[in-house]
Amino acid sequence: MITRRGLAAWAGSDRIPIVRARLAQLQALPVTRASAELALFVAGVEVERGLLPAIDDELVEVVGDRARARVSVLPIGDALIVCDRADAAEHAELVCWPDDSSFHLGSAIPPGRRGSWLDLGCGSAVAPLLRPALAERIVVSDLNPRAVRFAELGAKLSNVRLETIVGDLAVSPADLITCNAPIPGDHVAAIWRATDEGFVTRLFEAAQSALLPDGLIVVHSALDAIPRVLPGESVIVYRGFRDFVGPYVGHCHNLAHEDHAMMFGWEITP
Ligand SMILES: C[S@@+](CC[C@H](N)C(=O)[O-])C[C@H]1O[C@@H](n2cnc3c(N)ncnc32)[C@H](O)[C@@H]1O
Repeated sequence: MITRRGLAAWAGSDRIPIVRARLAQLQALPVTRASAELALFVAGVEVERGLLPAIDDELVEVVGDRARARVSVLPIGDALIVCDRADAAEHAELVCWPDDSSFHLGSAIPPGRRGSWLDLGCGSAVAPLLRPALAERIVVSDLNPRAVRFAELGAKLSNVRLETIVGDLAVSPADLITCNAPIPGDHVAAIWRATDEGFVTRLFEAAQSALLPDGLIVVHSALDAIPRVLPGESVIVYRGFRDFVGPYVGHCHNLAHEDHAMMFGWEITP
């Protein structure tokens, strides 16, 4: 059974980006019955079949007495997500390991239960699986059919009900619409990471067309990809701070600006 606590005890951290950076060390650890599933699905090493419980063929291939993971299975919150192995070759339909942006989107959504939630460009469905209590009905959609299948597998492992759609910015009406957008102009193969220059504009159009009255759209995006005019909208700008966590004062050094409310407190969270 893979859990966040188990991951923290084995890897020294339950933060997926940190665990990823330690993979070479984790691959060298001895494999015991207690660590076998983590070694298989997180470190990606071959494991003796006898050390593992029964596992779905879609997740693991068994040759003789050795098992090899077809995918990675990672604990996030109380859930498990499914994505491609960390050593998978780059290709258009690669479903990447979640990175900081995946967790930033998940933690940026304000609390409060809504009727319906649409996660656009769901990948492995990190945000919905991290915070399933945010809506009665959760729909996830992605252009990449492999991502949608992986979202379904993660939902099944996590006992969370997700409805899925495959399509180009495919929408269904929702009270909450979220997206951790790929970055325009990055020249890499995986559509998980890169998209065309017009993507974020099309994303806002699609999301606005599907948003139910009094709804909320939360997008994680490169700042310069956000359209300048978003009539009637407020924008949450998310920024990563590397070294400092806790209450913090942001202010403009120009005193006249400071006097006009450009001084405020905020809380930097990990
Ligand atoms: C940065 S990844 C985010 C994945 C996941 N939501 C997360 O936070 O880990 C962007 C996702 O958008 C999807 N995507 C790219 N272009 C799309 C499009 N035109 N329509 C729907 N999804 C798209 C990619 O396949 C990928 O899963």
